[in-house]
Amino acid sequence: MSFKVAIVGATGNVGREMLNILEERGFPVSEVVALASRRSQGTEVSFGDRTLKVRALDQYDFSDTDICIMSAGGNVSKEWSPKIGKQGCVVIDNSSAFRYDQDVPLIVPEVNPDAISLFTRKNIIANPNCSTAQLVVALKPLHDFATIKRVVVATYQSVSGAGKEGMDELFTQTRAVFVADQVDVKKFTKRIAFNVIPHIDVFLDDGFTKEEWKMVAETKKMLDPKIKLTATCVRVPVFIGHSEAVNIEFEKPITADEARDILREAPGCQVLDKREDGGYITPLESAGEDATFISRIREDSTIDNGLSMWIVSDNLRKGAALNAVQIAELLVERGLIQPKKKAA
Ligand SMILES: NC(=O)c1ccc[n+]([C@@H]2O[C@H](COP(=O)([O-])OP(=O)(O)OC[C@H]3O[C@@H](n4cnc5c(N)ncnc54)[C@H](OP(=O)(O)O)[C@@H]3O)[C@@H](O)[C@H]2O)c1
Repeated sequence: MSFKVAIVGATGNVGREMLNILEERGFPVSEVVALASRRSQGTEVSFGDRTLKVRALDQYDFSDTDICIMSAGGNVSKEWSPKIGKQGCVVIDNSSAFRYDQDVPLIVPEVNPDAISLFTRKNIIANPNCSTAQLVVALKPLHDFATIKRVVVATYQSVSGAGKEGMDELFTQTRAVFVADQVDVKKFTKRIAFNVIPHIDVFLDDGFTKEEWKMVAETKKMLDPKIKLTATCVRVPVFIGHSEAVNIEFEKPITADEARDILREAPGCQVLDKREDGGYITPLESAGEDATFISRIREDSTIDNGLSMWIVSDNLRKGAALNAVQIAELLVERGLIQPKKKAA
């Protein structure tokens, strides 16, 4: 059984990673179609050792496509995902357009796989925000053991989370600083090279940013609405890999050793936690990896049942493309999707 899969946003950071991961994991494809805007029509992207010609989204007919992985931003998704879903093609959407819709499941396969069955309501499944995906992978097994009451998280998010323009801006600004050239600020609100910016996405009335709000809303939707969470989201001059300093308060006692043992066994998690120089993960080492890495696990003696830890993952993989492909795999494993075209 194999499926016709379309990738919308195939020329972008996440779209390219999507193509790599579909190929690496041997997802059963009968055909892969690369789609983007008319700007990229006719350009080429790689899928394994094959080259795909990019086609324009607005000229493509989805009626014989089984799965569409959307990775072209919220506005494109709002316009296209419902139309594509109505054509009987299941949409896995990377944007925030449908994440909070009651009729659209928001899925991290290690966390809430059973919620996927809801997808038939709109034929859309949402992929979470990159900073939430890695967080809930680590929180879920700890919540099952000791019930999380409250989480305080500060993120250190790489520029690739802001698309290819974000990566270009870090590169060109860094070069400009070294050659004493003028440093232009376009994509971010302040210079990102040799700086950190405590602002991701738009400001809300309460002073939090939308990125911070997303972490709260998505953790509640996927893990448990009773969990209280507060976040500070910060952009840092790192190309790939989001890091998070996380403080967790539990209902029940849990030691650092217990947490380490639980996380070692948990799906999608890898513990790298030696209390010595270099005995922890950094975003550079997480780039290109599938795991959510957990380091610096320690008890917080300032609260009852408290732990602090450091969580790092490749935002283009677990934070976006890998999770989307895992959702597609879950659809296939559970027999929730059948190819429209039977193999000859
Ligand atoms: N980066 C992350 O860590 C991350 C994590 C989770 C979710 N996401 C989400 O994934 C999406 C893409 O992110 P990205 O980092 O890959 O961005 P990106 O590198 O800027 O790529 C954007 C992609 O969207 C395509 N696109 C733009 N407008 C389009 C249109 N009107 N019709 C068809 N395609 C269009 C672009 O095609 P052209 O080449 O033709 O312009 C390009 O392929 C966003 O929704 C983002 O929020 C990203």
